[in-house]
Amino acid sequence: MKKAVITAVGHYVPDNIITNKYFEERMDTTDEWITTRTGIRERRYAPDDMATSDMGVRAIEDCLKMRGIDKDEIDFIICATVTPDHVFPATACLIQHKLGMKHPKIWGFDISAACSGFIFALETARRLIESGGSKKAIVVGADKMTAIVDPLDRATCIIFGDGAGAVLLEASDDDTVGIIDSVLHVDGSGLPHLHMKAGGSVMPASHETVDQRLHYAYQEGQHVFKAAVKSMADATSDVMQRNNLTGNDVAWLVPHQANLRIIEATANRMELDIDRVMINIQRYGNTTAGTIPICLSEWQKEGKIKYGDNMIVAAFGGGFTYGAMFLKWGIK
Ligand code: COA
Repeated sequence: MKKAVITAVGHYVPDNIITNKYFEERMDTTDEWITTRTGIRERRYAPDDMATSDMGVRAIEDCLKMRGIDKDEIDFIICATVTPDHVFPATACLIQHKLGMKHPKIWGFDISAACSGFIFALETARRLIESGGSKKAIVVGADKMTAIVDPLDRATCIIFGDGAGAVLLEASDDDTVGIIDSVLHVDGSGLPHLHMKAGGSVMPASHETVDQRLHYAYQEGQHVFKAAVKSMADATSDVMQRNNLTGNDVAWLVPHQANLRIIEATANRMELDIDRVMINIQRYGNTTAGTIPICLSEWQKEGKIKYGDNMIVAAFGGGFTYGAMFLKWGIK
C-alpha cells in the first residue's frame, strides 16, 4: 500500500491586521481581558471582495510553488470550510476554476467539520491516496469567519479571524514518513452549544431571521471550552497510546488554535513542553479550518521542522467534531 505524505505546504492570511485595540474602541472589552482569556492579540480580516475560495487559491499557489509542480498534476481537491462562498456549489469547484486546473481531470468536494475540518479532510485524502486511486491531492482549510461572526457579540467576535492553509498530499513508496494513524469523532449532541441558527433547512433565511441576527455563529463559550479541553486531550492521548508514543517521542504538537488555554491543557495532558507546540493564535486568532495548515506552513518556512519529525495534530470544533492524527513529516 502507498503511503500518503505531505510534500508541500502553503498559506495565506489577509494583510489587514485587527488588534485588540480595535475592539476596545467599539465595545465593552479590554486588551487585557482578551489576552488573558484567549491568548489572542491580533487577527486578520479579509476585504469584502475576497471570498473563502480566493484565500484558498492563494494558499494553494503558495503550496504548489514550494513543490515546484504544475497545478494540472493534482488529481483532487478537498476544501474544509464552514464559510463556503455559496451554500452550493462546493468551494472546491470554485477553487478549481479560479486556479484554472484542468477539467475534466480533476475532481473534489468540500468537508464541513468546522474547526476539525482540516484533519477530517486530510484523513479522507489520505485514504483516497492509500487506496491507490490517486497520486496527488490538495487539502485546503479556508475560512472567512468575518462572514459569519456577529461584530456586536463581544464573546465571539474577538476570537475569530480569516485565513487559509493548504498541503499537498502525495502517494509515496517511502514508508518511513507520512500519515500513520488518526482517531476522529463526531458528537451531534454538541449542536445547541455551537451552531448557526438560520440559513439552513431547519430555518431558511427570512426577513425575521436577518432582523434577529440569526445568521451569525452562536456559541456558549464555557461549554465549548470544557468540551474542547476534554475532547482534544482524549483524542490526543488515544492516538499516542495506540502508537506507543510518549511526550518524549513527539517533536511537535500541532493543535487547532481556538484558545491558548485549551492548547496549554492539551500539551499538559501529553506532558509536552510548550516550546514543542505550534502556537500562532496570538497573531491570527481562530481561523477555523485554516489554523492547522497555517501553522504547518509557517513552521516549515521558518525551518523549524525536520524531515521525519513525529507530529500529533489535534482539533476540536462545532458539531461537535474532534480528533487527533499521528504523522511523520515528509518535507526535506
Ligand atoms: N470582554 C469583556 N468581557 C467579556 C467579553 C469580552 N470580550 N466576552 C465575554 N465577557 C464577559 C461575559 O459577558 C461574562 O460576564 P458576566 O460574568 O458579567 O456574565 C464574563 O466575561 C465571563 O464570561 P465567560 O463566557 O464565562 O468567559 P470565559 O472565561 O469562558 O471566556 C471565551 C469566554 C469565549 C473566550 C471562552 O469561553 C472560550 O474561548 N471558549 C471556547 C470558544 C471556542 O474555542 N470556540 C471555537 C470552537 S473550536
